[in-house]
Amino acid sequence: MSKMEKIGRADIQIGDQTMACPLYEGTEGEKALDIGALRKETGLITYDPGFMNTGSCSSDVTFIDGEKGILRYRGYDVDDLAENCEFVEVAYLLIHGSLPTAEQKARYSDLLNKHSMIHEDMREFFSHYPEHSHPMAVLSAMAVSLSSFYPELGENHKEDLDMTVTRLLSKLRTIAAFSYKKSIGDPAVYPQHDLKYCENFLNMMFNSPVIENPYNQTMVSALNKLLIIHADHEQNCSASVVRAVGSSGANLYASISAGICALWGPLHGGANQHVIEMLEGIQAEGGDIDKVIEKAKNKRSPFRLMGFGHRVYKSYDPRAKIAKALCKEVIASTNKHDPLLDIAMELEEKALADPYFIERGLYPNVDFYTGLTYREMGIPTNMFTVMFAIGRLPGWIAQFMEMKKDPQGRIARPRQIYTGPNARKVIPIDKR
Ligand code: ACO
Repeated sequence: MSKMEKIGRADIQIGDQTMACPLYEGTEGEKALDIGALRKETGLITYDPGFMNTGSCSSDVTFIDGEKGILRYRGYDVDDLAENCEFVEVAYLLIHGSLPTAEQKARYSDLLNKHSMIHEDMREFFSHYPEHSHPMAVLSAMAVSLSSFYPELGENHKEDLDMTVTRLLSKLRTIAAFSYKKSIGDPAVYPQHDLKYCENFLNMMFNSPVIENPYNQTMVSALNKLLIIHADHEQNCSASVVRAVGSSGANLYASISAGICALWGPLHGGANQHVIEMLEGIQAEGGDIDKVIEKAKNKRSPFRLMGFGHRVYKSYDPRAKIAKALCKEVIASTNKHDPLLDIAMELEEKALADPYFIERGLYPNVDFYTGLTYREMGIPTNMFTVMFAIGRLPGWIAQFMEMKKDPQGRIARPRQIYTGPNARKVIPIDKR
């Protein structure tokens, strides 16, 4: 892990006490005030709900400039990676720090293929979930269950950790496809050695003796790109959860399972499902976009435009640009017309022209067009967040591995400002 550079100090004045805090700078010019000694020296803690200004670590993995709309994995622009790489190469990049050579990629793909089956006893689990189970519930439970089937966790040996990483990348995709097949009552389709990572997934999802050509090569290419744009996003909610759980010493499977649960929420990765539900709702009610925008602006209503706004991006999310183009490509490849895309584009146009959205820097985020693209590929709405999880997996793994190696690493343990009752005595039950 490269070091942050110390660039000076800043004095904090608290009453008549002055505390000198070191100032650091990262490789892209981001500056930070180190308040590590604050409580020890002054008795104060910082108060920062939602960690709006709190840097919890230094990281080599991903750089975002939310004002300029820049997203880079290990220095490479996400557009460049999406245009020129397959998902497996980007997974390798995030986890190992550099893009693979042709030979390394071939070996890695081969390894992923070898580990893509899941233990037959695990397959049994699927039959015990009720039919309406949300696939994110199944995915998170299955991810942590892998630790009992594959107990070499890599806590002490690098080779074991590499094996755990490979198993997770490979098997989570199989689990996702099996859970879909179970939900529609079809038999599971096993992975095939002659198919690459993304095509293997589409084949496991859609291959059926009674459907001819259930996917095309535009979809395979689109899936590669979609998984790439999901692959990492620095210290977002789920990545921070993965790091926090891992910081207690919990294993990688358990930490990833927790990350999957965090991603599920509608304010995070769950938004892609809610975008489609919102667009379908608009369509069902006659397509009145102005009414929806007014509702999103109304502070008395809890409704928000799903797929809009971001904690970090205050300009167009670079991932949303890629997803919008992909959505159009996939629709063109199926020779269909999706009226939801028309609604989405009109909604985007009107929102971006509205002072409420302009003043707050609210633009479409990654989830606005990815759901529509998945829908065109035949992936059901409740599987959208699962797709996000498969894409985000290498990022979570990279964050976990970096956290493990960080010499400054400690158990994640924020402070609080207590606002409950002062000390009091229990009144015997017959006198309460
Ligand atoms: N629709 C309407 N108003 C919004 C929206 C929205 N989608 N997003 C933010 N705002 C408004 C807020 O009401 C607030 O207004 P105010 O200043 O008048 O109070 C202002 O914009 C700032 O919003 P915050 O909630 O403070 O911003 P925060 O950084 O905490 O939240 C979040 C970011 C959760 C993504 C938010 O924009 C949101 O809820 N978006 C909709 C859900 C969504 O698309 N989530 C996916 C995010 S991408 C991802 O996680 C993969």
